[in-house]
Amino acid sequence: MALQKYRFYKGSILNPQNDKKCDFIRDGLLVTKGEGKSARIVDVLNLEDGLKKYSTKMTKLNTTYFKNSVIMPGFYDMHFHWVQDDVREMPKDSLLEWLNKYTFPAERKFSQKSYAKKKAKEFFTKLEKSGTLGGACYSSIHEHAIEAAMEKVTGDFVIGNVIMNMNSPEELTQSEDDSLKLTQKLIRKFKKRHAFTPRFAITTTPNVMTEGSKMADKAGCFKQTHLSETPQEIEFVLSLYRNIPGFKNVSSYTEIYQKTGMLGPRSLMGHGIHLADKELKVLSKTKTSVIHCPTSNAPIEEKGLGSGLFDFHKVEKAKVRWALGSDIGGGPFLSMFDVMRSFVDQNKRVNVSGATYTKALYRATLAGAEIMGHEKLRGNLNKGKEPNFIVISNNGLEANTETLLETLISAHSQEREAYDKLVKNVYYQGTKIS
Ligand code: GUN
Ligand code: FE
Repeated sequence: MALQKYRFYKGSILNPQNDKKCDFIRDGLLVTKGEGKSARIVDVLNLEDGLKKYSTKMTKLNTTYFKNSVIMPGFYDMHFHWVQDDVREMPKDSLLEWLNKYTFPAERKFSQKSYAKKKAKEFFTKLEKSGTLGGACYSSIHEHAIEAAMEKVTGDFVIGNVIMNMNSPEELTQSEDDSLKLTQKLIRKFKKRHAFTPRFAITTTPNVMTEGSKMADKAGCFKQTHLSETPQEIEFVLSLYRNIPGFKNVSSYTEIYQKTGMLGPRSLMGHGIHLADKELKVLSKTKTSVIHCPTSNAPIEEKGLGSGLFDFHKVEKAKVRWALGSDIGGGPFLSMFDVMRSFVDQNKRVNVSGATYTKALYRATLAGAEIMGHEKLRGNLNKGKEPNFIVISNNGLEANTETLLETLISAHSQEREAYDKLVKNVYYQGTKIS
């Protein structure tokens, strides 16, 4: 055994497994082997057992002790707009007004290459510091903005340029032909890191959704868009499409995406709050995932868009896969700790059972990795996976996982910006990046 290839990390360990179970080792030892892409977790065990199993000679050389700290997996943020960092805390009246008033003008600035590059560096540095190491991201319409994002991001992400070719401000409107040519070009260049991203049915013509979906499917790429975020949006979508040939008789928003080939096992639908049972059935049958963004959907007083409460019980009953996202800038803060807190708080407030921190952690880590097909290598700290983890300050003295997570997360609920500072260190593929 080559000694230098092993690394030992001492601390409390939180390891999410599913909605109901998160392993917790108070005095734990995380053992890794190798570096970079080939780095793997080889053991997750009790410190006492670990010290018996590995010789002093090995542990003495290569141990990092995280005192009063908890080691947990890096997050998956399954829906966020990196180009909306400046509108996160802008006044929010309703989705469509916020888009027109703040978001579109902010995204327009990315037409400047130097601006896009500067912002990409800033944003993705903040993102990794907040402990997010995987997920699905929206860029602006501009080619050089997605290129800047692809260059600066660290972790396992798919990124897509939003496609807008109708009902959009002039400076953000592309022709159908340009949209499809750019899609093909970006798929060729970035392969499976590219996500086909029609902004939503309001801004993207059905022809582009149909043809772009085919390109994405052929290349095995993800597809992402927004679905049923607010009642006003749904009404607008249906009134629009009932005037488009071939869509006159559509009965739902979901049906529009179904008809344009947007649904499937590699499809991520942002929000999906106001869905009828019939629509959920279609999403389940096509194995489409819904990405729930609680901080974005939260009431306006909580810096959200007031879009409504996601009924996770209904979605789970319909066997639709789902995971959490921040929806930056609909959501105000990058940290998935804030997203988890909002999920728990909003459900508790109206006495919905089952919205635990344990569940929130699973949905902010492994559930996202599963949807992306990364679960064999990522999403939690099981043996055989990549050492992608974050280190949090905490004495780890709580009696069980749920109370530990509650203490950790609710302690900062009064100053939500502070969640970003909760993360002391970030390791990606065994390398300390923050
Ligand atoms: N629907 C279409 N575009 C957007 C967006 O940028 N943010 C949110 N929250 N919803 C959208
Ligand atoms: Fe969004």
